[in-house]
Amino acid sequence: MNPQQLEELEFRLLLEGVFEVYGYDFRDYAEASLRRRIRHWLAERRYPSLSAAQGEILRDRAVFTSFLQGLTVNVSEMFRDPRFFRALREQIVPFLRTWPFVRIWVAGCAGGEEAYSLAILLHEEGLLRRCRIYATDINEAILDRARNGIFALRDMQTYTRNYQLAGGSGEFADYYQARYDHALMLPALRDNILFSPHNLAADAEFGEMHLVLCRNVLIYFNPDLKERALRLFDTALTAGGFLCLGMKETLEFRSLAASYTEMVKGLRIYRKEYPD
Ligand SMILES: C[S@@+](CC[C@H](N)C(=O)[O-])C[C@H]1O[C@@H](n2cnc3c(N)ncnc32)[C@H](O)[C@@H]1O
Repeated sequence: MNPQQLEELEFRLLLEGVFEVYGYDFRDYAEASLRRRIRHWLAERRYPSLSAAQGEILRDRAVFTSFLQGLTVNVSEMFRDPRFFRALREQIVPFLRTWPFVRIWVAGCAGGEEAYSLAILLHEEGLLRRCRIYATDINEAILDRARNGIFALRDMQTYTRNYQLAGGSGEFADYYQARYDHALMLPALRDNILFSPHNLAADAEFGEMHLVLCRNVLIYFNPDLKERALRLFDTALTAGGFLCLGMKETLEFRSLAASYTEMVKGLRIYRKEYPD
């Protein structure tokens, strides 16, 4: 067996072990990028090889938690892709208004950037009080950060620009308090957000959603896992509800495509059709 084949074997064995021991299933993640992140984590922790790390990952939950952190990409931004948030505000909010109570699922919410952005947008549209935002992620450490609502102050300039481009109708600075080098989001924004752990590779869906956002998550999955996640969203969504994917993700060529209409061309906002 050459070194590359050996690495592939170690890689598969580790993912099997992680699934057996912790129930986290990474076997259906897109392989090349997953391996890159594992290599990066090994180098950072100075492990000479994957097999050298395996025992510790499987035996020590603290090491596994760090490994999980290394595996998941938690990069996000407030009002990321401002054109998307503008379209949501201008073209989708009018539909949301027609429901007496609006249930929203943000799957793969990372540090909460998307959920807080939505809360701000819905507040400005006078809808927040009748919305419930379920913000979920596989990574519990990142969810703790999201619950705290603390972001780096240095990012606020970018977020302010995104907010303005997204059609924000107020002052972004009114939504946080600056303290030293961080920004604390107004606690009232959090009142309608429930942050909770959820694994798209293993768990069941949340029911009766009117809007599902799962952006920049499916790119890390292989086709089977993408399909699983999309079926989960389809079951979660009420007829006439909306599914939003990331800019590099699409429903095209997926088995569900026929039951959805793209509402805003190119911005990956789809509407689930009503049954005939
Ligand atoms: C790149 S971030 C995307 C954050 C945000 N949605 C955005 O577009 O800015 C991807 C997130 O997906 C989460 N994730 C990865 N695998 C997951 C899974 N199986 N179930 C739920 N979340 C997952 C990661 O922990 C990470 O926080």
